[in-house]
Formats: sequence, C-alpha cells, structure tokens
Amino acid sequence: MKSVAAAAATLALATSVTARTFTVVNKCSYTVWPGLFTDLNVGPAVPSQPTGWEQKSGQTISFTVPDNWKAGRIWGRRNCNFSTNPGPNSCSDGGCNGGLLCDKHSGTGVPPATVAEFTFQGDGNQDWYDVSLVDGFNIPMRVDNNKGCHIADCPVDLNPNCPAALAGPKDSSGAVVGCKSACVAGLGDPANSPNCCTGSHNTAKTCPPSGVQDYSYFKKGCPNSYAYAYDESSGTALWTCDSSKAADYTVTFCP
Ligand SMILES: *[C@@H]1O[C@H](CO)[C@@H](O)[C@H](O)[C@H]1NC(C)=O
Repeated sequence: MKSVAAAAATLALATSVTARTFTVVNKCSYTVWPGLFTDLNVGPAVPSQPTGWEQKSGQTISFTVPDNWKAGRIWGRRNCNFSTNPGPNSCSDGGCNGGLLCDKHSGTGVPPATVAEFTFQGDGNQDWYDVSLVDGFNIPMRVDNNKGCHIADCPVDLNPNCPAALAGPKDSSGAVVGCKSACVAGLGDPANSPNCCTGSHNTAKTCPPSGVQDYSYFKKGCPNSYAYAYDESSGTALWTCDSSKAADYTVTFCP
C-alpha cells in the first residue's frame, strides 16, 4: 500500500517536472482570440488548453503542455464573432475551421496570420521554434522562454505601412488588420513562384530571399522572424533550445 502511494507520488513529481508551462499574454489594446493547434500527425499528446479561446486586452492565461507534445502552433485571431456560421470567416483574419474551438485536424488558421511554431525534441534533441510570417502578418508577437534561449519575435505592427499589393483585410473602420506575404497574396503563378518557393523555385538555392517580393519589408521590420519558406539562411529565423532544459514559453501578443 505504502509503496504504491510512493510510486504514484514519484510519477506525479516526474510528470510535473517534465511538463512545460505556456503563458499567453495579450498586451494588445484589443481582444485577441488565440488558436492552438497540435500537429496530431507527429504525436497524440495535447496541451491542457482548448484549441481556441477569447482573451481580452490585458489578460494573461497559462496552461501546461506535456513534455511529449511534438509540434504545434499558436496564433491570434482578430475581430471575431462566432454567432453565425462559426468557421474560418468568423474573424477578420486568423479564423479557423470550427469556430471558437479550432478543429483538431484542420483548424490551422486562415492567412494572413503571425504564427508561433514549436517542435519539441526535434533534431539534436532541441526545441525548435519561430515566429513565422510565411503566411503573412496580423498581430505583433513575441516568444520568449525561461532558460535564456533566444527570443523569436515580430514586435512591430507591420499593418499600417504594408505594401498596397499585400495589405488587407481591413476592419469595419477601414484599418488594415493584416499584411499578406507575397505568396499568400497570390502574386505570380502559384505553381511556379519565387514568392512561394514552388515549381522550379522549390529549393533553398533556387528560392533566395532576393526573389521574394517585399521580403525586406517583413525581415527588416522583424529580423527575428521566419519571413519566407527558406529563411534559415538569414541565421535569425529559426531558434533552438535544448529540450533537456524543458523550457517554459511565453507568447505575448503586442509585446
Ligand atoms: C455578431 O454577429 C451577429 C449576427 O450578425 C450580430 O447580431 C451581433 O451584434 C454581433 N456581435 C457583435 C459583438 O458584434
């Protein structure tokens, strides 16, 4: 009896030591509806948090992510109203299949959206993470951690000065609330595009940043973001943190 209790206590301790804490902070002046997607193709473990929620300006929430969580993403949705036809069009941008709760299998978020991406225990037993602008930008974002690993971020609001061909959608007052990547904006032939790194441009070598329209608008504004499909060459796109450190992460909207 005693030894079973002791074993259970040890197990509980081991679990609490290895689970990660994620904190999401909304410092925007507006409500954000975060989405949280787990890539179930690479592992079944899911965080303790629902796949979508409403987070008012100034609110902070925390949840646990099991250490065997393999990969997923967090992003923000703007100007949502789920009362009719809940789904991808319930928000100005970032909306997902499902509604408030993003669908577990297909609820990844409608571009343009700034996306925090995570892979745990990836190559080299590293956490790999980034703030991706591959699908464009909608909300400034920062990912930091409690183990001294590098910050990934796009702290600048890229909406107001977004190049005209990429700007939008707009909110009901006409303000730009999203800035599409050239790929998402559909500039050029999507099947063979230097913006999307498709067709004859589908390798790092044949899809240099110089071929991506307005790459520098995104990368100069947000040097620590992952600004196009092969942005590893910048050296400031994709970040790692030794998985054995079991870092906790904080995702801040409008840092
Ligand atoms: C949400 O949409 C419904 C239906 O269009 C509308 O009646 C309601 O006022 C909207 N709510 C908000 C908070 O805008």
